[in-house]
Amino acid sequence: MNNRDILKNKLEESKLGGGQKRIDAQHSKNKLTARERLDLLLDKNSFEEIGALVKHRSTDFGMEKLHYPGDGVVTGFGTIHGRLVYVFSQDFTVFGGSLSETHAEKICKIMDMAMQNGAPVIGLNDSGGARIQEGVVSLGGYADIFYRNTQASGVIPQLSAIMGPCAGGAVYSPAITDFILMVEDTSYMFVTGPNVVKTVTNEEVTSEDLGGASVHSEKSGVAHLTAANDLEAIEDIKKLLSYMPQNCEEQTLKVPYELTDEVREELATIVPDSANQPYDIREVIKGTIDKDSFFEIHENFAPNIVVGFARLAGRSIGIVANQPAYLAGVLDVPSSQKGARFVRFCDCFNIPLLVFEDVPGFLPGTDQEWNAIITNGAKLLYAFSEATVPRITVITRKAYGGAYDVMNSKHIGADMNFAWPSAEIAVMGAKGAAEIIFRNEINSADDPAAKLAEKEAEYAEIFANPYRAAERGFVDDVILPEQTRVKLIKAFAMLENKVATLPKKKHGNIPL
Ligand code: HXC
Repeated sequence: MNNRDILKNKLEESKLGGGQKRIDAQHSKNKLTARERLDLLLDKNSFEEIGALVKHRSTDFGMEKLHYPGDGVVTGFGTIHGRLVYVFSQDFTVFGGSLSETHAEKICKIMDMAMQNGAPVIGLNDSGGARIQEGVVSLGGYADIFYRNTQASGVIPQLSAIMGPCAGGAVYSPAITDFILMVEDTSYMFVTGPNVVKTVTNEEVTSEDLGGASVHSEKSGVAHLTAANDLEAIEDIKKLLSYMPQNCEEQTLKVPYELTDEVREELATIVPDSANQPYDIREVIKGTIDKDSFFEIHENFAPNIVVGFARLAGRSIGIVANQPAYLAGVLDVPSSQKGARFVRFCDCFNIPLLVFEDVPGFLPGTDQEWNAIITNGAKLLYAFSEATVPRITVITRKAYGGAYDVMNSKHIGADMNFAWPSAEIAVMGAKGAAEIIFRNEINSADDPAAKLAEKEAEYAEIFANPYRAAERGFVDDVILPEQTRVKLIKAFAMLENKVATLPKKKHGNIPL
């Protein structure tokens, strides 16, 4: 065989992964192969592979006779919508995509390059975990990746798609990355699998119920997005990336946009007259942003807060909004965590923040207190307070109590705060307030109910509006809902060159 044929054979062998039988098995599980996934993810002909000929170094358990060039992970770089990305795609057909010393080295190599060259890393995970035959060198390989995930955090975006098993300590690499996408029915994530759970706790649970896509998108919040299949997950990755800069040095992405539809009449009729009637804050979001540009994150987790990316006059923004349609938009432990994580991502990558506020306060009760609403609520407060990106708040209705402070108030560094005429900025709702401060008067009245109604109206007259706050300058402007889009476009443009610095420190100590 001549030199050229040797090379050709080696590359062909590498492309075949664990062989046709295992590729067929992968397909029969409704899963694409590592290479098929990359083909769909990256721009046509843009993929350049690195390390196709790498082989493991294991000699125990007859492993010296079992070699698959590439060693269970396809790594390299390419482009998505013309922008550079680094990728690794684990190949389940080779030792179940398990992570060997060399498999880890390949991933670390592209992570190092991504850091140096300032481009996102996308990991497509499909792996049985640590290569059992290799022992501690595999564990070391994981730690090498975790360390790099941490170093890269806030420098370049890191996205993880879970497209098969992801178990044991292996979950901690995706957990440190910015976003986790899971494929329904074919992926799961857990620290200990059903067998260990049964042994330790005597609990019987399936992989799906323990760590499937719906569990992690609804209950734990580990997964930010779920997709029906590999193809949809890949489309979601591309879309997600389209809102992000390449690294923390780049400014907000802006796509060309022609300003035509600034006045949005539909915004004028969304908030109901009664303060206790729900409405869907997504209507407000959609009414404000560029058409069809909202990409919601964590949709099924803590629905009392809505977070996601959007575009305003072509510029990427991050949106955090209380959701009156669910639990009246109250802040609780999960919604505080969800909001805080999103705010910090946006701040890492220079994505301006827009907040829509309609919040009755923090959720009372032993469940909340025992689950540390104090520490968790503080996360959101801290995340907003620390963020130096342009920050704007629109108060659509309630801004009550501590939640008023937390939800990007002027006091914690928001640049512009607007309120709609329907805004109520107060320590609490008028009825609750009247019951407390006029208790004696109400109790001794001939008609306590009428007295309560009278005092409630008195309190509402004074505080259930935005004007006390506007008089103080806590609200910069009271605006008509239909003007919101125009006002926001102008305000964000005004803030485009904002410079804000934090006091010199090693790093802050967010209440974790
Ligand atoms: C080596 C592995 C492997 C592993 C799977 N394979 N997992 N080889 N190390 N961890 C191999 C199998 O031997 C098999 O080889 C092929 O991959 C496909 O596996 P199957 O079992 O046939 O596939 P399936 O039925 O789909 O089951 C997938 C699975 C199961 C659920 C992932 O393979 C499994 O339970 N594997 C072990 C998982 C595990 O305990 N990993 C260690 C976790 S601890 P052939 O030759 O037959 O194709 C961990 C620590 C990380 O990861 C620590 C970081 C700090």
